[in-house]
Amino acid sequence: MSSRTVIRGGLVVTASDEIHADVLIEDTRIAALAATGTPAAEAFTAERVIDATGKYVVPGGVDGHTHMEMPFGGTYAADTFETGTRAAAWGGTTTIVDFAVQGVGHSLREGLDAWHAKAEGNCAIDYGFHMIVSDVNQETLKEMDLLVEEGVTSFKQFMAYPGVFYSDDGQILRAMQRAAGNGGLIMMHAENGIAIDVLVEQALARGETDPRYHGEVRKALLEAEATHRAIRLAQVAGAPLYVVHVSAQEAVAELTRARDEGLNVFGETCPQYLFLSTDNLAEPDFEGAKYVCSTPLRPREHQAALWRGLRTNDLQVVSTDHCPFCFSGQKELGRGDFSKIPNGMPGVENRMDLLHQAVVDGHISRRRWIEIACATPARMFGLYPKKGTIAPGADADVVVYDPHAEQVISAETHHMNVDYSAYEGKRVTGRVETVLSRGEPVVTEREYTGRKGHGVYTPRSTCQYLT
Ligand code: URP
Ligand code: ZN
Ligand code: ZN
Ligand code: ZN
Repeated sequence: MSSRTVIRGGLVVTASDEIHADVLIEDTRIAALAATGTPAAEAFTAERVIDATGKYVVPGGVDGHTHMEMPFGGTYAADTFETGTRAAAWGGTTTIVDFAVQGVGHSLREGLDAWHAKAEGNCAIDYGFHMIVSDVNQETLKEMDLLVEEGVTSFKQFMAYPGVFYSDDGQILRAMQRAAGNGGLIMMHAENGIAIDVLVEQALARGETDPRYHGEVRKALLEAEATHRAIRLAQVAGAPLYVVHVSAQEAVAELTRARDEGLNVFGETCPQYLFLSTDNLAEPDFEGAKYVCSTPLRPREHQAALWRGLRTNDLQVVSTDHCPFCFSGQKELGRGDFSKIPNGMPGVENRMDLLHQAVVDGHISRRRWIEIACATPARMFGLYPKKGTIAPGADADVVVYDPHAEQVISAETHHMNVDYSAYEGKRVTGRVETVLSRGEPVVTEREYTGRKGHGVYTPRSTCQYLT
């Protein structure tokens, strides 16, 4: 017996259209749309009717960059797959693509198996995996082909963090050549980690130990230099490239130039770079540690270039890079030495709202909001049109969004398993009302109605901008 839901009277917003339409859901998928008030819409019958009058009906968010329970900086990211996906659902995100990690000296398979074990049966929403490649060797390269075939179609490499995740240029080139052959997408953490480590050592020797020095040593020029190098290595390999967590205007300029040359180069930024700055890193009493992430927050002047890139499509995606560490006990590991502060910030719950605020503020249009937060990440990572849109046949991952509700972001009310909010006290207009994941209500009029284990592993096709 099939279960039917109809969402009536809302403004359906996708990356391409805005229409006042009723949405019919049968079981786990969108069955039909029809203009509100027409006979076709009135013929929709269902056991469950959701009134979306005065609201937006948008695709569930696709967050292409999260790190649930990731081991990093001598500790673990504080959200588990259970708590992190629940918080994501609260914030209107219905799919995450998290990063499985290859340990140095281990296979990709071992890393992927370990991440499947962490996630399986624990998620409130659907999830896929990218693979962090920390050890490029002949076996790893062969395994990349197998992973692409089974739906892990993107691989993150690091030009930063020597001795941890770092790959040198030769290792990067080899992985890119492999990706060029197997259809994989290389995702790059573009910062010159070798140079940064020298500057870290010199800063600490001068007694510069506060969190704000994290921002000073991880220079914008060293992000731009690495971005440039990654672009040219990808060009030599004939591979596409996706640069993660872009924060520096000089790095955006490198992406713009490469795209103007016609290269398949893509860029992602994150809400923290759009809304926060080095002013936060400089907060007194070690509070700046809350904002330590890499690439680092930049001086406020960089934000204009990021917004511009999002408008001109030189940046295509906004993900969170959600990697939360509690202030108490975790960020505090770096008191007296900023280089020991675990890198990462919480945000998986806040992305859809902050980007809606960007619509309210006039930075982007409503459709661009859905494009950068839902449709493009789904296409980039091979999930479209199952995810990222509202259309017949798509998974019924749908958010009823109240564009007029006012809220104040706070750790007191958020659902992420972390003891602070990076946006504490920020007023935003707009709020998630109801969230469906494959037709099941996970948030119902601001009440959590989801369950651990509802979310399933979702294998991905290759990047849909290339096929
Ligand atoms: O500081 C960050 N971004 N932590 C997460 C790991 C990464 O580099 O994305
Ligand atoms: Zn092993
Ligand atoms: Zn990174
Ligand atoms: Zn990350």
